[in-house]
Amino acid sequence: MPIEIRPLSTSMGAEVLGADFSKPVSNEDFASILQAFYDYQVLAIRDQNLSPADQIAFSERFGTLEDQLNSRYILPEEPKILVLSNDVKPDGTPVGLIDAGDFWHTDSSHRPLPSMATILYSLKNPDEGGDTGFANMYAAYEALPQSMKDSLDGRRAVQAVSKFKNKRVVASERRPDATEKYTEQMAIPDALHPAIRTHPVTGRKALYVSQRFTIGLEGMSEAEADPILDFLFEHQTKADFVYYHHWQDNDLVMWDNRCVIHRATGGYTYPDVRLMHRTVIAGDAPY
Ligand SMILES: [Fe+2]
Repeated sequence: MPIEIRPLSTSMGAEVLGADFSKPVSNEDFASILQAFYDYQVLAIRDQNLSPADQIAFSERFGTLEDQLNSRYILPEEPKILVLSNDVKPDGTPVGLIDAGDFWHTDSSHRPLPSMATILYSLKNPDEGGDTGFANMYAAYEALPQSMKDSLDGRRAVQAVSKFKNKRVVASERRPDATEKYTEQMAIPDALHPAIRTHPVTGRKALYVSQRFTIGLEGMSEAEADPILDFLFEHQTKADFVYYHHWQDNDLVMWDNRCVIHRATGGYTYPDVRLMHRTVIAGDAPY
């Protein structure tokens, strides 16, 4: 049966039906998925039944996998998979990373080589909450006033990993190691990336800033940059550009970090449990 691809919203996103990635991916199916990924930026591949090894095999079709940044919550048998969860082990320690991605961001834009794509496999969804927001940064760029496009053209944005460097975000109180982690990260150098980046495959321009990681604009004082950043953060999450994904169990969702920002909306409380397995495809230097 051929794979069926159906748009999920007017802003972006498509669901993929009739695929089974617990088996090796045929070249034909892979080509359809890849084209849909470029066309829709976010794909929700429904009804997958994947072992960790299956998820690795699927993910590796798209490129080299990154090592997970948070080694505390990796799967021992597949260290390239990070566990996201609010579940608790019998000894009281967390099963996975809690409250990951609670502010709008694009994955690892704070690193010299940010992630190309992120893949989340949903094993268990809470009865309430847990949606993921996505915003289309091609559309956000295209809708900018020409004067703003001109002033951002060629300008680099400052991307910082520690939440303690960013006055627009706060650390989640539900993360036991947050203070230690963000203090440690203060020493990591900020990354500088173009505020407008060009997608290396589609050639389209996308806005490449986010509330979570972007703390400044190169060559501008804080007083000069702040009103511009405040405008961009509000602009980029307007309803026209956003799609909220309500997860089904066994969804395999992947998104393109080069042209999409995303955010976890939370809204679920233990013992209402969420459990996901995350893999990340390495990317290139933005230009
Ligand atoms: Fe993320």
